[in-house]
Amino acid sequence: MTAKILRGRVLTFVSEPNGPDDHESYRYIEDGAVVVDQGQIVSVGEYNDGLKLAAPRAEVIDHRPGLILPGFIDTHIHYPQMQVIGSYAKDLLEWLNTYTFVEEQRFADAGHAARIASLFCDELVRHGTTTAAVYCTVHPQSAEAFFTEARKRDMRMIAGKVMMDRNAPEGLRDTPQRGYDESKALLEKWDGLGRLHYAITPRFALTSTHEQLEMTQDLVREFPDAYVQTHVNESLGEIAFAKELYPNLPDYVGIYEHYGLLGPKTLLGHCIHMTDREMAAMYETGSVAVFCPTSNLFIGSGLFDRDAMMAANVRIGVATDVGGGTSYSMLRTLDEGYKVLQLRGQRLSPLESFFMMTLGNARALSLEHKIGALAPGGDADIVVLDAKALPHMALKMEQVDSLGEELFLLQTCGDDRVVVETYVAGEAAKSKRH
Ligand code: GUN
Ligand code: ZN
Repeated sequence: MTAKILRGRVLTFVSEPNGPDDHESYRYIEDGAVVVDQGQIVSVGEYNDGLKLAAPRAEVIDHRPGLILPGFIDTHIHYPQMQVIGSYAKDLLEWLNTYTFVEEQRFADAGHAARIASLFCDELVRHGTTTAAVYCTVHPQSAEAFFTEARKRDMRMIAGKVMMDRNAPEGLRDTPQRGYDESKALLEKWDGLGRLHYAITPRFALTSTHEQLEMTQDLVREFPDAYVQTHVNESLGEIAFAKELYPNLPDYVGIYEHYGLLGPKTLLGHCIHMTDREMAAMYETGSVAVFCPTSNLFIGSGLFDRDAMMAANVRIGVATDVGGGTSYSMLRTLDEGYKVLQLRGQRLSPLESFFMMTLGNARALSLEHKIGALAPGGDADIVVLDAKALPHMALKMEQVDSLGEELFLLQTCGDDRVVVETYVAGEAAKSKRH
């Protein structure tokens, strides 16, 4: 591995943008360079400002006029749902029972899991995503397959075996003890290996008994630094069912709160139909609300209330939620997110969107010291975008004269086709075949 200099227009955020014109929130270098070596970012600056001189033997990769950004981060996605995407259903519970719980049973087969895990990583990289928080299935071999693939590619990934012991077909159920034992063994084997992190993953309150959530709490107590990921307040039917199953707890977030599952490493997918009490509980524990716009529109679950979350100071991430979600692209995701917020009368500026898919999501995952920004010492996970990749976008670019407008065009019309290259740990991964 030799050092590389990536030359292009460099953009990285340093803080959360406060409105559409907050130029202090980012650094932009017109003829910039990112020097990468041994999987890390060594320096970032002006190309002609000594960066080339400082690394004279480095290979220069000229991406001009491409835009060089930190790799995209997806804070909620299901790799076993690659063949569920685009399934027709009336609502969440029908979608889960008719398609998802059928498809996920196939991951008992380690060979199938390995094939899909590899195709999944290919797809993330093709779309510019370098880190994701990933649900596997109930089968430990599904998590083995995913971690094996991510390790092979040296990707920074968070994942976990789903725990579920009721309201699902027999082939998808573990038991409280098995869920605990299998999760613990996977965590001990994979967490911290290379760039891998383990997420304790009770699917959601509907598919776990009290006993399972109690044993999940034991696991969280034993491994307080591990992630916890689950779903909450996605659809009204789901919420009514949760109330039936846990009648003595105040609300849906209160279920996870009762079992000690909230905290700064806890990612709660969806968070659409929230009470003030639930938002306060999330704020007090530092838990993260994960906005999944393509999924919420596709399944018809509802419109995320970003302003209410921000007013309550709840941490927010944004995610594809494939296969409830309909695209692997964080650009498509933020485009749909923009539309959800338009329908709610809320504003989401292009600077805020690009912050969210990079540094914002890194912060949501408490990984901002490693990913989400282009800074010396960080992981060399990088995406290069071209807003003129498609003829109609190139035409519109003739009328674009600010960075904000360019970002907005990339978000509104862009997808995998605007991703010129994705670097994983400093290596070009999109153009390389696995
Ligand atoms: N709630 C519980 N499981 C799932 C899932 O796989 N997808 C979505 N969108 N919601 C869920
Ligand atoms: Zn999900």
